[in-house]
Amino acid sequence: MMKIVVEKNYEDLSKVAANLVREEIEKNPKLVLGLATGSTPEGMYKELIRLHKEEGLDFSKVTTFNLDEYVGIEEEHPNSYHYFMKDILFNHINIDMNNTFIPDGQAENPEEYCKKYDKLIEEKGGIDLQILGIGENGHIAFNEPDEELNVGTSIVGLTESTIEANSRFFDSIDEVPKTAITMGIGSIMKAKKIILLANGKKKAPVIKELLKAEKITTKLPASMLLLHHDVTIILDEEAYRG
Ligand code: GLP
Repeated sequence: MMKIVVEKNYEDLSKVAANLVREEIEKNPKLVLGLATGSTPEGMYKELIRLHKEEGLDFSKVTTFNLDEYVGIEEEHPNSYHYFMKDILFNHINIDMNNTFIPDGQAENPEEYCKKYDKLIEEKGGIDLQILGIGENGHIAFNEPDEELNVGTSIVGLTESTIEANSRFFDSIDEVPKTAITMGIGSIMKAKKIILLANGKKKAPVIKELLKAEKITTKLPASMLLLHHDVTIILDEEAYRG
């Protein structure tokens, strides 16, 4: 079931999302939390940091799994998702870094590594709450629209539109990796609860498509969420109305 929440603006969206995360951590301090990168969840992370610093929200027993990482750039690279997560969240809360997991874009044996990542999620009890953004082309994590979608964590090629969208973080478009490692649709769908966030006019067309979808299609990877029993979509007015 998809529950739709529309907030006035990005700030409100971020606060509502952070509060849902807070509630889950308070219910279960050992929460296994699935995290996303991109601009969309930045405000939510900022609010989670505030909740930690000002209201004592405790991450010490929380485990996190990130959705994806580029292949071909080092963890220390300022554009890597490893770097991003430390910078935007982990360095500012009391999480045990040993409990944070991000796919390794440099793994020597990628195929084996992908299987290990999914297994590790299972071993930790599965993801309790997964945070998602959405690409303008309907991708979730780095599962791009295609004839087929991967079930488990996989190495994938990025579409031109994603490379272009993500080039804003790089000095030039040629520097954007063309390959990534991403949790598959199955890995995401196994999460007990999912929150998808979208803000801004740019996301309005894909959100419109998603909200009117009555069929699932690999051409709109986010449509797979129609099969999940507990999805909350939090939007701002711009993403909702355009
Ligand atoms: C990126 C990420 C996704 C993210 C999406 C939207 O490429 N791999 O996990 O949800 O695209 O990004 P943004 O939030 O910056 O719009």
